[in-house]
Amino acid sequence: MANTNLDDVPSLDLMTELLRRFKCSSKPDKRLILIGPPGSGKGTQSPIIKDEYCLCHLATGDMLRAAVAAKTPLGVKAKEAMNKGELVSDDLVVGIIDEAMKKPSCQKGFILDGFPRTVVQAQKLDEMLQNQGVKVDKVLNFAIDDAILEERITGRWIHPSSGRTYHTKFAPPKVLGVDDVTGEPLIQRKDDTAAVLKLRLEAFHKQTEPVIDYYSKKGLVANLHAEKPPKEVTVEVEKVLS
Ligand code: AP5
Repeated sequence: MANTNLDDVPSLDLMTELLRRFKCSSKPDKRLILIGPPGSGKGTQSPIIKDEYCLCHLATGDMLRAAVAAKTPLGVKAKEAMNKGELVSDDLVVGIIDEAMKKPSCQKGFILDGFPRTVVQAQKLDEMLQNQGVKVDKVLNFAIDDAILEERITGRWIHPSSGRTYHTKFAPPKVLGVDDVTGEPLIQRKDDTAAVLKLRLEAFHKQTEPVIDYYSKKGLVANLHAEKPPKEVTVEVEKVLS
């Protein structure tokens, strides 16, 4: 709301936001990392955790896609790697996370969704947090068999401006191809094809699985059964975080 003239904000919206902030003030701070292969449900569970604990949701994939769409210098550099299912360079993503964590909405902590994805990124994150005198509380590992992921990824539809995610079979919108809330059209991601998924999974096993070991050694990892239906995964997340 930084650039909004409060006179123009409807009273009901203002009161709702005040009530939300009041409730948030009694919630404990939390700094969480969500790790899992493409389609494991990180983006589906994040908004639920965010609302429950008043955290900011920092998804490097969403930030990079926004930069690609806006054709910023960062987006131009990231586009090719993303379309090929490869990881973007560590320096680029570390820079955007460092900047994003300073936002006021991250005051009570954060959910990192899709970061860190390499051991170098995890080490850089440790340095950043050490400088702020804080540390990661929990790493949620969305453990799932690769075989389940193709159907999830190729059936996914997204509302780009809100990040709302649908699935033709598992979470269909009320009207096919249309966002439930705004009525705007849904899109499919360029990298959500079976062929690119194969490469994204290779990158996950080679570069991101070692990050799970990195945090396991610190005793921070909680394993989730991410193959279960979304609501059951939410219950597991609640248990881990309570
Ligand atoms: P990113 O956007 O992070 O993609 P990802 O990690 O591949 O994860 P996804 O968004 O595909 O999956 P998700 O786990 O969020 O699944 P979702 O909840 O939507 O990264 C994209 C690219 O950006 C990377 O390839 C890389 O190039 C670059 N990048 C990003 N971060 C980077 C970094 N740190 N370093 C370097 N490069 C980086 O679920 C999928 C579908 O399944 C949905 O349709 C959903 O409705 C459905 N679904 C979800 N849960 C369930 C369930 N339990 N049961 C049934 N269906 C379900």
